[in-house]
Amino acid sequence: MIKDRIKEIGFIDEAINSDIDILAEINRMKKEKNAVILGHYYIESDLQDIADFVGDSLALAQEAAKTDADIIVFLGVHFMAETAKILSPNKKVLLPDLNAGCSLADSAPTDKFADFVNAHPDHLVISYVNTTAEIKALTDIICTSSNAVQIVESLPKEQKIIFGPDKNLGNYIESVTGRKMLIWDGACHVHQQFDVNEIVRLKKEHPKAKVLAHPECNATVLVLADYIGATSGILKFSNIDDCDEFIVATESGILHQMKKLSPDKTFIPAPPEKINDISCACNDCIYMKMNTVKKLYNTLKYELPAIELSDDLQKSAYASIKRMLDISEELGL
Ligand code: 13P
Ligand code: SF4
Repeated sequence: MIKDRIKEIGFIDEAINSDIDILAEINRMKKEKNAVILGHYYIESDLQDIADFVGDSLALAQEAAKTDADIIVFLGVHFMAETAKILSPNKKVLLPDLNAGCSLADSAPTDKFADFVNAHPDHLVISYVNTTAEIKALTDIICTSSNAVQIVESLPKEQKIIFGPDKNLGNYIESVTGRKMLIWDGACHVHQQFDVNEIVRLKKEHPKAKVLAHPECNATVLVLADYIGATSGILKFSNIDDCDEFIVATESGILHQMKKLSPDKTFIPAPPEKINDISCACNDCIYMKMNTVKKLYNTLKYELPAIELSDDLQKSAYASIKRMLDISEELGL
């Protein structure tokens, strides 16, 4: 019954008794079942405060690889939970809503990416972690925005490289390393649509503010940035830099940790481009925001929905992620 409903709508929509203290129950079930809750910086702030560990994609993969919990509940998106399952195939990995996908991962369909890879057999394939398990199986080394530049730089200069699926991150790596790569034409809908004119206007309004941007943003935004980095890097920079005003060009969820770490500083979310003259004040990833406290409660209670992968796919996707973790460890990342 519950499984059928998950097949139909992707999550458990059971009503929760209003007498229940949901947070206390979540904590009780977590202990009883030896579960760990991992959350990405882009989820809602109430969930960030519930999670045992909040981090960026690299930190979450590292945490998933080393946890001794029996159950990993992933408050993030599908490829992140899938990465945890690939790293820990014997653990139960739960994702509260299977609809939590990723527009960037969707921009690399397996058959087309396989054709691209097969057409360039002398190239090493580096893929961003924002990909499906099938793409990871076609990849030599996975990277995240925290280690992409260092991974490319760790390879011999003459090594030919295919980079996918994020063209913005690929172009950024080229500009930093001076290397040419064959770059797949994919992008994230959140980072792709920041409005350059609005950022310029905000900079005039707040002349002392520094612009912080994620490398998934397009080049016209990145040239305006005072700091470019993964979410963890942006967070750290906003805390240690003496500037006390920042315009933030990445998903708005990160502002919660920024304000927690630096409560006296001002953080202004860079606005997305207006579509039909309508725009909100921030940039939200609809997929990250599919995680809710209610879904988390039901997920822990029923231990569903769980990520399932065939042995073959798990094994063939594992090597590329392991290689990333090994290089990151060697480089102290
Ligand atoms: P990082 O977690 O590497 O900063 O990536 C951001 C992102 O878009 C995750 O989906
Ligand atoms: Fe994917 Fe973009 Fe959402 Fe990250 S922010 S999960 S890249 S759609």
